[in-house]
Amino acid sequence: MKKLIAGNWKMNGSLAANEALLREIAAGLPTQAACAIAVCVPAPYLAQVHELIAAMPAVALGAQDVSSQAAGAFTGEVSASMLREFGCRYVIVGHSERRQYHGETDAMVADKAKAALAAGVTPIVCVGETLAEREAGQTEQVVKRQLAAVIHTNGHCISEIVVAYEPVWAIGTGKTATPEEAQVVHAVLRTQLKAATDQAARVKILYGGSMNAANAASLLAQADIDGGLIGGASLKAPDFLKIVAATPV
Ligand code: 13P
Repeated sequence: MKKLIAGNWKMNGSLAANEALLREIAAGLPTQAACAIAVCVPAPYLAQVHELIAAMPAVALGAQDVSSQAAGAFTGEVSASMLREFGCRYVIVGHSERRQYHGETDAMVADKAKAALAAGVTPIVCVGETLAEREAGQTEQVVKRQLAAVIHTNGHCISEIVVAYEPVWAIGTGKTATPEEAQVVHAVLRTQLKAATDQAARVKILYGGSMNAANAASLLAQADIDGGLIGGASLKAPDFLKIVAATPV
């Protein structure tokens, strides 16, 4: 399966910075990238980035969050159909920063994934354990619980999602899970997906957490690592391009 390298810009950027970053990425992208590429940008910049990447067919657009509701009195929320209208192919749901700072529960994340799927937007569902949970030996239990909620709510549509394993202790810290540590968790997630769908082999499971130009190739060489969700390194065109270039076919 073609791997997916997705940048998560988080709450970074400006009209000028976005344009400069995307122009630099466009200039450095090979004509035939071996992997699929996406950038998940802050909602106010969706229109701008949609336009800027129109000339970059290899790059898809993504958002960073979505409402679980279709429409109505939900001040501040953005619906999946709105994301779709602005050309979003992907939306990140359940990022650990949203679970941590916005109190998103497994059930809320599952409902957001469902809303995205209903609008034809692929949810990138994030799961991952904290350092305390890893040290307590609970990694498997935590990621399985997080994914189980999404499987439960989305039934046979589960083969349409992308999963991102992002150990919370590796996000923005410069500490990466070793390829072997990550592979162990990815294999657990794959097995769980297999129990839910006979299409589990085509569900992409991305790794995220301090993935960079230096460590990408070894992580992406693992059997069940189907791409990366890149934070900090996606804001620097040379680094993002190196990760794309390091991605095995
Ligand atoms: P960093 O690559 O900055 O560690 O962030 C990872 C992440 O949270 C992507 O969603």
